[in-house]
Amino acid sequence: MVISAYAELMLESLAVEHPLRRNVTEIMTAAGRATDLTRQLLAFGRKQMQLLRVLDLNTVITEISRMLPRLIGEDIQLVIVPGGDLGRVKVDPVQIEQVVMNLAANARDAMPRGGRLTIETANIQLDEEYSHRRSVVPAGDYVVLTVTDLGLGIAPEHMAHIFEPFYTTKEVGKGTGLGLATVYGIVKQNSGFIWVYSEAGLGTTFKIYLPRVWEQSAAPLLSPLEKAPRGSETLLLVEDEAAVRKSEEEFLSLSGYTVLDAKDGEHALRVAREYAGTIHLMISDVVMPHMGGAELADQLAAARPLMRVLFVSGYAESTVLQHGAIDVTSRFLQKPFTLKSLARKIREVLGAEEPRALAAAGSS
Ligand SMILES: Nc1ncnc2c1ncn2[C@@H]1O[C@H](COP(=O)(O)OP(=O)(O)OP(=O)(O)O)[C@@H](O)[C@H]1O
Ligand SMILES: [Mg+2]
Repeated sequence: MVISAYAELMLESLAVEHPLRRNVTEIMTAAGRATDLTRQLLAFGRKQMQLLRVLDLNTVITEISRMLPRLIGEDIQLVIVPGGDLGRVKVDPVQIEQVVMNLAANARDAMPRGGRLTIETANIQLDEEYSHRRSVVPAGDYVVLTVTDLGLGIAPEHMAHIFEPFYTTKEVGKGTGLGLATVYGIVKQNSGFIWVYSEAGLGTTFKIYLPRVWEQSAAPLLSPLEKAPRGSETLLLVEDEAAVRKSEEEFLSLSGYTVLDAKDGEHALRVAREYAGTIHLMISDVVMPHMGGAELADQLAAARPLMRVLFVSGYAESTVLQHGAIDVTSRFLQKPFTLKSLARKIREVLGAEEPRALAAAGSS
């Protein structure tokens, strides 16, 4: 987070034609890769925080199909077959992207002399009889995501092992063997099932069954190209990691906010006591020495009933939940995050309706 935050800040201050922009962009890309690798390891250990959304899988596929050509190269034809009238699923879109990226990377490696990669989506209803024969997937309504390549195929002796972590047939330095282990972990985390079929010399098909849901779709996510939103409220930033705190403070000040910062809970109580004005929002780490974020919020609630709270943490949901009544769906940001996503989250939390705020308007 520190690396990418400072790179983001540096990029903001460099003129468009500045020769160092390229170097900074490289740093950000490398930090992004480190983040992805961490995510992969966490997903694979099922420790990753999930952000479930009700969505149409076709929107995720469309989004990702724009990034795939760069991954698979020019010699592989990409065919997308979005299913019509597709049912909705409740998944973490970022994780699903990760799944498709990993499967596409494997397909690419299996087709060194080119070929075709097909990605399809479709509704499917599995009845008792079918699920009995296939046994892995229970009967029910699913949206199935199919990824097919015309590559080398998977030899029967490897088939039983492909989902194992660190199982790879690729040369040293080429594969870590975490791709499919990650895919498996993610599919399970999203309540899905994965099925694979391969024929040596002809190709491989992966099918991912995701349970269909009938809830309404969530609002679309903001595009990554959008500028970070600004604001002018007063924020109390509580973070024990000095380098992270400093980068956030610098960014938020540049974004127009008045920023008070504190290195732990005790310090935050003192800062809040000494500050005469309104504090609109406290952004606090959840797990900190001496006093955690939830306890800190509790202690401040009496003196500052209108102050909103946004919790951040690098810990997984289960750990965060052990640290108090924290709303991990709307008032929480999983570390590592980019400064831009912090900026958006702040607007979201400050903009959210709070009936209590109307009744008590006027006090700080
Ligand atoms: N589409 C495919 N075609 C042929 N073989 C495959 C395909 N997908 C996976 N495999 C086989 O399964 C093995 C494990 O795949 P996995 O994605 O887990 O690891 P990897 O690709 O070797 O390394 P990493 O993904 O970590 O870079 C591969 O080494 C390869 O032998
Ligand atoms: Mg792989």
